[in-house]
Amino acid sequence: MPVITEIEDLKRIYRHRVPKMFYDYCESGSWTEQTFRENSSDFDDIRLRQRVAVDMTGRSTESTMIGQDVSMPVALAPVGSTGMQWADGEILACRAAHAFGTQFTLSTMSVCSIEDVAEHVDKPFWFQLYVMRDWDFVVRLIERAKAAKCSALVLTLDLQILGQRHRDHKNGLTIPLKPTPANLLDLSTKWAWGMAMMKTPRRSFGNIVGHAKGVSNLSSLMSWTAESFDPALDWEKVKEIKRLWDGPLILKGILDAEDAKMAADVGADAIVVSNHGGRQLDGALSSIRVLPSILDAVGDKVEVHLDSGIRSGQDVLKALAMGAKGTYIGRAFVYGLGAMGQKGVTAALEVIRKELDVSMALCGRRRVTDLDRDVLLVPEDFE
Ligand code: FNR
Repeated sequence: MPVITEIEDLKRIYRHRVPKMFYDYCESGSWTEQTFRENSSDFDDIRLRQRVAVDMTGRSTESTMIGQDVSMPVALAPVGSTGMQWADGEILACRAAHAFGTQFTLSTMSVCSIEDVAEHVDKPFWFQLYVMRDWDFVVRLIERAKAAKCSALVLTLDLQILGQRHRDHKNGLTIPLKPTPANLLDLSTKWAWGMAMMKTPRRSFGNIVGHAKGVSNLSSLMSWTAESFDPALDWEKVKEIKRLWDGPLILKGILDAEDAKMAADVGADAIVVSNHGGRQLDGALSSIRVLPSILDAVGDKVEVHLDSGIRSGQDVLKALAMGAKGTYIGRAFVYGLGAMGQKGVTAALEVIRKELDVSMALCGRRRVTDLDRDVLLVPEDFE
C-alpha cells in the first residue's frame, strides 16, 4: 500500500490506472474550465485564524446531515459511470462510505443499478435523480429507490441540458469503451483495469438500460443525455417529485439566492450549493463564493450543503465555518476509487478527516459543530 497523505497522492495513482478517456471524463470541466479551476482556487483565497492555548482534548468531527448521523459531514456526491473507474465501483464506494460512517449517493447514471447496490450493502444509501422527458420512467425510478429503502432523494436541477464538455467530445467518450487503435494502445498499459472490468457483468448504465423509452443507442453519453433529459423541468415538476417521493428531499445544483428561496419554499430538507464540479455552466461562480449569499437568503429555512472543489479537510472546514451544515466530495473519492477501489475511497475519507481534525484543532475548535466565521479570514468580495 503506497503512503497516502493527501488527495493528490490518490489522483496520481488513479491517472496511471484507468483509461485516459475515463480519467479525462472525471478530471475536466466544461468549456474553458474557469469554474472548474476557481472551485478550488477560491477555497485557497480563504485563510484560517490560528488560536493557541485552547484545550484540544476530546475532539469530534461527528455531525448530522438532514438529521442522519455522520462521523464527518462529508458525504459522497453522486458521480455517473463510477463503475467504469473500478469494477463494481458504486458498490465499493458505498461500502467504504458506510464503514466510515457517512452517506453515499448513487447517481441515476451509475453502472451498478439501485437494486445491485441495495443487494450488496447493509445500510440505506441516498439516490440521485435526473429528470427525464419520459415521466413514467421518472416515476419508476422513484418507486425503485423507495423499494430499495433509499434514505434520501437527491434531485439534481442543474443538468436539464448537458454543459459543453470539450474533452469528452474530443476523446469520443463512449460507454463501454470502443476498441479503437488509440484506446487499445492506452489499454495496453492499463491491463489491470481491463482484466477487472472483464470479470464484472456490470458494464453499462444499470438504472436506465431497457427502461428509457425510445432510447436504443447508449453508445454516446452526450447524445443520449440530450435526447433523454427533460429540458422542461420546472418548479411544478419538483413539487410533483417531492409529492411522489414523500421522504427526505435534497435539491442539488443551487447557485443563486433566488433559486435557493424557491427550493426552500418547495419544502426541500436541504439544498446543495453546487455548480456540478464546474461541469455545467462555465463562467458561473464557485460554490464557496456564492455560499454566503445563499445562507443569507435561506440559511434559517433549509439545511444548506455545499460541493464543488473540495480536495482537503481544510476546504471542508472553510465550508462548514462559513455556515454549510454538510459537504460532499465528488472527484476526491473517485481518485481514491480509481486508484485502489474500496481501500482508496476509505483513504480519501481518512485523509480528509485527518486534515479537518488537525486544522480544526489549530483554529482552536474541538468539534466541527463549533466552527463559525470567526475561524476564517475571508476576502471582502466573498460577502
Ligand atoms: C459528477 N456529478 C454528478 N452529479 C449528479 O447529480 N449526477 C451525476 O451523475 C454526476 N456525475 C458526475 C460525474 C463526474 C465524473 C463528476 C466529477 C461529477 C457532480 C457531482 O455530484 C458533484 O457535484 C461534483 O463532483 C462536486 O465537485 P468536485 O468535488 O468533484 O470538485
